[in-house]
Amino acid sequence: MIDQASNLRKMIDNDARSKSNKDVKIYSVLSGKGGVGKTNFSVNFGIKLYQKGKKVLIIDADVGMTNANIILGIPVRNNLFDLIKGDKTLSEVIIKSPYGIDLLSGGSDLMELEYLEDEKQKWVLENLLELGNYDVIIIDNGAGMTKQTMAFLLLSNETILITTPEPTALTDAYRVLKVISSNTIKDVVKVIINQVDSKATGDDTFNKLLMTVNSFLDIKIENVGYLYTDLRVNKAIMEQCPFVIKYPNSLAAESLDIISSKLIDDDLFKKNISNIKELKNKIYRIFG
Ligand SMILES: Nc1ncnc2c1ncn2[C@@H]1O[C@H](COP(=O)(O)OP(=O)(O)OP(=O)(O)O)[C@@H](O)[C@H]1O
Ligand SMILES: [Mg+2]
Repeated sequence: MIDQASNLRKMIDNDARSKSNKDVKIYSVLSGKGGVGKTNFSVNFGIKLYQKGKKVLIIDADVGMTNANIILGIPVRNNLFDLIKGDKTLSEVIIKSPYGIDLLSGGSDLMELEYLEDEKQKWVLENLLELGNYDVIIIDNGAGMTKQTMAFLLLSNETILITTPEPTALTDAYRVLKVISSNTIKDVVKVIINQVDSKATGDDTFNKLLMTVNSFLDIKIENVGYLYTDLRVNKAIMEQCPFVIKYPNSLAAESLDIISSKLIDDDLFKKNISNIKELKNKIYRIFG
């Protein structure tokens, strides 16, 4: 494994593209319970960042359940699996949406990369390095903590945990934080409370989670904000057009705007970022 990793390193270090100085910010979006709003957040947050001048890629990493394309109203022809098979390059598997953001559909377990022969693994890794051409990458994970989600967490600069105020969602969110903390994957996790009816519900929910986390876990959580429950979110899904585009004045879009400004103005946005070299090292650490 170590020999294989050092061979790969040598091969890719010779690659001209690795000399690029471009910075990329990678967010991993996750949750304990399913259906709490990760995909809707990821897609609409991506569009907000695009509107603020960033080049954005969404990676739909929910293996077997990919649905970011449905919210965007675009068909998926190729996915990451086609790249891993060696049939397609990264630019061929990336889909452009009408809203300025690009989409890479998972369609396969990225951990399969471990089992590929050297040459193929090199091809995939080289292609993945082109992800460095984006300003922001948002990884929309499946619910819960799988090996793949952990790998994506290691790759990312920021972790965004989504929960609703429901006790079951909150308990599952706590469980995810426990896995992150006990495996020392991240020191800080940003939390968004989705589907609230008031600011008070948002704050109460965060404070409940904070109290439990502070009592039992060695990890920090940050309150990024909350998103209102809004029927126009459901309407937008039915119409297959993201709510920030279809209903820009809805409560959901307004609360997302506040969260997006907070995340993008955050000093951490500029500090906690990877250049292509760091991205490469992270990819090695995970797959090498
Ligand atoms: N702010 C909101 N207001 C109203 N409904 C919402 C809101 N956010 C999400 N929903 C509802 O929750 C459903 C699930 O949302 P979404 O698909 O984004 O969740 P998810 O966490 O990605 O789910 P999964 O775990 O299955 O990937 C949506 O179809 C929508 O009906
Ligand atoms: Mg989803």
